[in-house]
Amino acid sequence: MLLHLLNVITAYKPNQFSKQVKAATKIAHDAIEKHPFMKSMIDGSLSDFKYAIYLANLLPIYKSVEMFILSNTLNTDIIQSKKIEQDIANYSKHLNFNFCLSKHPEINFTSEWLNYFYAKSAFNKKVELYIRWLADMYGGQIIKRNIRFTSKYEFQSLRKSIQEVRQIIEVGLDNATVESFITEVNKAYGFHHKLADKLNELSEESLR
Ligand code: HEM
Repeated sequence: MLLHLLNVITAYKPNQFSKQVKAATKIAHDAIEKHPFMKSMIDGSLSDFKYAIYLANLLPIYKSVEMFILSNTLNTDIIQSKKIEQDIANYSKHLNFNFCLSKHPEINFTSEWLNYFYAKSAFNKKVELYIRWLADMYGGQIIKRNIRFTSKYEFQSLRKSIQEVRQIIEVGLDNATVESFITEVNKAYGFHHKLADKLNELSEESLR
């Protein structure tokens, strides 16, 4: 596992602006990493049911990023929405529950986040690519150890996928854009926090 992580972390040498983003958002990253919902994902105490609801809420974010930013990519390995749909289908079968948000509006916690995403500048839309894709590629490699269906964290070539995503992010990330990118990353971590809070509070019994 340590070797695997090292392989991931050394996949790409971030430029000075990427390093600036990482340093200025570290507090927010570490806070979400330590959120009780994320901790339960790592220690294996999170139920399949809540994890599937988490996926269902993230899916529209992934689809929107892919529509705006990845529509021309030739690397199908970074098309995460297909993998998430596969995972959700597996959980639906396994738990005999339809995790479609339109069927269960009471478990839809990401409309504000999605509206915010659509209103952002084209460049700042890349914030979600930065957070969600790198979360899957880095932290996800640790998280997946205690997750039942893990397509979302599987990459044919993790190193190549990290390189491609990081390169896309770095196009246009410069002196003029870096501060607003950082502000938006911290804001996006806030949406993750709200989602994790909501999922923590959710009572499964009320939905079954
Ligand atoms: C839950 C447990 C998590 C663990 C153990 C974890 C761990 C890590 C590790 C080891 C890295 C690589 C750090 C490096 O390059 O030195 C990383 C990077 C990153 N993680 Fe996490 N992470 C977790 C959760 C999350 C979550 C929930 C998000 C998003 C909501 C996230 C977003 C990111 C991002 C954006 C990076 C790239 C940082 C950068 O290089 O600029 N992580 N994470």
